[in-house]
Amino acid sequence: MVAIIDVPGGVQTAAKAATKAGFPLSCDPGVGRLLGVLAAGVPPHGAILELGTGAGVGLAWIVAGLVGRTDVRVLSVELDADLGAVAARQAWPDFVQLESGDALEVVRRPDRWDLIFADAPGGKWYGLDDTIDALLPGGVLLVDDMSPAEFVDDLHRTKTADVRERLLTDARLVAVAMDWSTGIILCTRSQPG
Ligand SMILES: C[S@@+](CC[C@H](N)C(=O)[O-])C[C@H]1O[C@@H](n2cnc3c(N)ncnc32)[C@H](O)[C@@H]1O
Repeated sequence: MVAIIDVPGGVQTAAKAATKAGFPLSCDPGVGRLLGVLAAGVPPHGAILELGTGAGVGLAWIVAGLVGRTDVRVLSVELDADLGAVAARQAWPDFVQLESGDALEVVRRPDRWDLIFADAPGGKWYGLDDTIDALLPGGVLLVDDMSPAEFVDDLHRTKTADVRERLLTDARLVAVAMDWSTGIILCTRSQPG
């Protein structure tokens, strides 16, 4: 059980917007808190990418982790324009960029990232290789919803098993599966020797 106290105001706002929009897939508070911790560790002038903005809950946790900082670039991409609009109506710091489009297209750009939260089928179920490529050396990749309780159907079960296998065996990554929140896999891209 994950005890989350003092949920940041931005997260509460995004969670209310998600509820109002009828969007049930926002990240779990345990994952959100971890996202904030990882965001806080991004190096000066670093860059963070979220695949799948949803209603902005995960993004709000990232922003909360960056409190006091303005040096980090944060990009969040969402395929569903209506959901993107829900997130866009919230107040975000200037360093946050919301993009409407396919996560797959974003991870295939030359940009490289210190932290990626892969929370959309694009870049996680499909194009995972491109997402790993988009990590800087030492960059961190977080995926959630990896625990059996989250499997909703056979496709979900198959894709999740595939993601698990690939992340835990990819030679570019040092990775661990953890029974935290909805089940996570946390990976760091190896530094060149
Ligand atoms: C699990 S939800 C994201 C929740 C959000 N990251 C959070 O923490 O609150 C997954 C989102 O990915 C979006 N999505 C699905 N396919 C996508 C794609 N190819 N590119 C970008 N977003 C996509 C869905 O519309 C949905 O909003």
